[in-house]
Amino acid sequence: MVRASGYRRMGRVASLLGMGVVVGLLAGGPLVTDQLSRAEDKAPAASAPAAASKKTPLSQFMQVKLSYAQSMLDGLVTEDFDKILRSAESLGELSQSEQWRVSNDAVFRQYSSEFERTVKQAMKAGKTRSLDSAALAYVQLTMSCVECHKFVRNELVMQAKP
Ligand code: HEC
Repeated sequence: MVRASGYRRMGRVASLLGMGVVVGLLAGGPLVTDQLSRAEDKAPAASAPAAASKKTPLSQFMQVKLSYAQSMLDGLVTEDFDKILRSAESLGELSQSEQWRVSNDAVFRQYSSEFERTVKQAMKAGKTRSLDSAALAYVQLTMSCVECHKFVRNELVMQAKP
């Protein structure tokens, strides 16, 4: 059995669009995501410039990560496989970067590779234009965000450098 039949769509020129979105997210990601991540008491959120400059490079890096994950959900609900693929690729690149390695802890690295595994699944699903696989990969990816954060909060906070 090969690929699902009537499912295929002609390659729309959505790639350009997708790239635009990704680049846009890189530039404006923190703005979009601020309200989501720090809805609690942590950020006064009164003056935007002050809040932005308070962000460390690491936290900006992490915010970009959230933007790509959101972009993937966007791709899923609009059945834009190109967007799914691009956001997965971008997440994959982030996870390869130096900044991702905030800790050398073995468990942290395990969470990292779990994350990379789900990112690869999402990339594959984007390439094969399989919406169900992409949705599953997204759920697993999200779980891996939550699990690693749980670990970071509970175990790693003490060792983390400011
Ligand atoms: C392998 C571990 C790991 C995984 C997986 C992971 N993160 Fe993170 N994340 C971190 C660490 C470490 C920090 C920094 C924590 C800190 O600032 O103390 C962080 C911080 C963040 C922040 C906060 C940035 C800020 O403003 O301080 C956001 C948002 C975020 N991650 C989103 C995500 C999303 C979305 C995913 C899944 C797509 C994800 N993370 C997956 C480790 C991970």
